[in-house]
Amino acid sequence: MLLPCVRSVAARRLARDVPRACSCSPQGPSPRGYSRGAAGKGLVLGVYSSEKNDGAAQFTSAGDAFDKLLAGKLRALLSLCGPPLKKGKTRVFHGLHQDFPSVVVVGLGKKNAGINDQENWNEGKENIRTAVAVGCRQIQDLEIPCVEVDPCGDAQAAAEGAVLGLHEYNELKQKKKPVVTPQLHGSAENAVWQKGVIYAEGQNLARYLMEAPANYITPIKFAEHIEQKLRSFSNVKVHIRPESWITTQEMGAFLSVAKGSAEPPIFLEIHYLGGANTNDSPLVFVGKGVTFDSGGISLKPSSGMDAMRADMGGAATVCSAIVTAAALKLPLNIIGLAPLCENMPSGKANKPGDVVRAKNGKTIQVDNTDAEGRLLLADALCYAHNFNARAIVNAATLTGAMDVALGSAATGVFTNSSWLWTHLYEASILTGDRVWRMPLFEHYTKQVTDCPLADVSNIGKYSRAGGACTAAAFLKEFVTATHWAHLDIAGVMSNKDEVPYLRKGMAGRPTRTLVEFAARLSQDSHNAK
Ligand code: BES
Ligand code: ZN
Ligand code: ZN
Repeated sequence: MLLPCVRSVAARRLARDVPRACSCSPQGPSPRGYSRGAAGKGLVLGVYSSEKNDGAAQFTSAGDAFDKLLAGKLRALLSLCGPPLKKGKTRVFHGLHQDFPSVVVVGLGKKNAGINDQENWNEGKENIRTAVAVGCRQIQDLEIPCVEVDPCGDAQAAAEGAVLGLHEYNELKQKKKPVVTPQLHGSAENAVWQKGVIYAEGQNLARYLMEAPANYITPIKFAEHIEQKLRSFSNVKVHIRPESWITTQEMGAFLSVAKGSAEPPIFLEIHYLGGANTNDSPLVFVGKGVTFDSGGISLKPSSGMDAMRADMGGAATVCSAIVTAAALKLPLNIIGLAPLCENMPSGKANKPGDVVRAKNGKTIQVDNTDAEGRLLLADALCYAHNFNARAIVNAATLTGAMDVALGSAATGVFTNSSWLWTHLYEASILTGDRVWRMPLFEHYTKQVTDCPLADVSNIGKYSRAGGACTAAAFLKEFVTATHWAHLDIAGVMSNKDEVPYLRKGMAGRPTRTLVEFAARLSQDSHNAK
C-alpha cells in the first residue's frame, strides 16, 4: 500500500479504510494484488480548481456521485495528495472501486470558464478537451482497453477530447499503442457525446490522410479512401475524375503542375445531398490536394521537405468535413472539390517563366513553381462557380508566410463576405480552432496583376512581402461569387505541443470548424445570397 504524500494519523487511518487505494502519483506503482492491463475499465473524472482557499476539490456532478459511492474517500485522498490539481494535471488511483481498477482525476481549471473574448475561443470547452485527452492517454499508458469519461458538463467537448487525444498514426509500425475505447460515464448525454465522437473522428480522418506518407496517399489513393468512407451513404455521389476529364475541362493551370509528376492527377468531386431539396443551392468546399510538394523546379530545401506530404491538408479537411456532415445527416447540400496531384521536378515540369491558361481563360506566368497550390485552386475555383453556390469556401496549406504571420494560433481567413466571416468566426470559437480575418486589399491585387508576360503572376512582385495576402489576391482573380472565403491553413497544418489535446503530428485543423460552419449554415434559413 503506497500513499507517498500521506503523513498524518488521519491519512494512515484512511489508507487502512480504503483497501487497494494505492498511488496518487501519475506513474505510481500498481497496487499489490492488482495487475495493470487486467480486464476492467478506467475512469476519467474532472475536478475544477478550487474557488475557495480551503483547497477542497470541486467535483463535477459525475465526480461528486462517484465520491458519494466511495463515502467521500476520493475527496479525502485528493486532499491528502497535496494542493488542488492544476488544469491538465492528474492523479491516478488504483483499486478504489471494483468496476474501475484505475481512476484518473484531472484538473479542469475554473468552473465558470466560458467564452474568452481575448482568446477568441470557449475556454471551458478547451479545458474539457485537454483534461479528458490527458486523462485518457494516462489510461492508455496503463494498457486498460476501455475508459469511461466524465462528461464534465459538456459531453461533446469531452468526447472530442477523448477521441482526438487518443488518436495516433501508427498504421505502418509493427509495435502499436494499445487501443482504448472511450465511453460516456453515465447515459444522460449520450446523443451529445456521440456528436462529439463524430466531429473528432472527422478531424482524425483528416489527420490520418495528412500524416500518411506520400507514397501511400497518392492522388488516386486519396480519392479511393474518401470514396470508401462515403460508400454507405445513399445521398452521396463521388466522382473520381481522371486526367482526360481535367483536360476537357481546360484546367490548364492544374494540369501544368500535375504534368511534372509520374502520378496521374485526379479531380475529386463529391455531392452530399442532405438538403430538403436536391436542387437547393449547395455550400461548395474546395481543397488544395497536393499529395507531395517538392517545390518542383523551384525545389524546396531538403530539410523538412517530408512535411509536404501534408500539402493536401485543404483537400483532407474539406473532404473529411463532408464525411462528417453525412454522418451527422446535416440538412443541407454540400459539394466538395479537390484537385489532387504531386508537385515534382522533371523534364515535363513547369519552368519558371512558363505561361499557362486557367479554365476561365486567364493566363498565368509561373514565376515560381513552388507557388503551385494557387494554380490548382484557380481552376477548381472556376469550376466551383458552376453550382450556383450559397457560398464557396476553400482551404489550402497555401503559404509559408501564413505560418510566419499567425503560427499555429489560428487559420487565416480571406473573405469578400462579412456574412461568411461571421459564421466561420462563430463556429471557430466553439471548436477552439480559431480563425483570424486577413485582408483582400486591391494593394495586393496590383502586385500579382503587374505581370510582364501574362494576365497574372503566381507570385507577388515584391516576392516575400505579405506572401499570404498576395496568394489570396491571386485566388480572388478566379472568383466572382459574392460569398467566398479562402482559408490559409499552412500555419495550423501540424501540431508540436501547442494544442494539448492533439498529439504531435499533422493536426487536421480546422475540420471541426468546417463541420460546425456547415451545421450553422444548415440552420440559417435566411439563405444569404
Ligand atoms: N505548400 C507550400 C506552403 C507551405 C509551407 C505549407 C509550409 C505548409 C507549411 C506552398 O506550395 C509554397 O511552397 N508556397 C511558397 C510560395 C512562394 C514561392 C511565393 C512559400 O510559401 O514559400
Ligand atoms: Zn509549393
Ligand atoms: Zn504547396
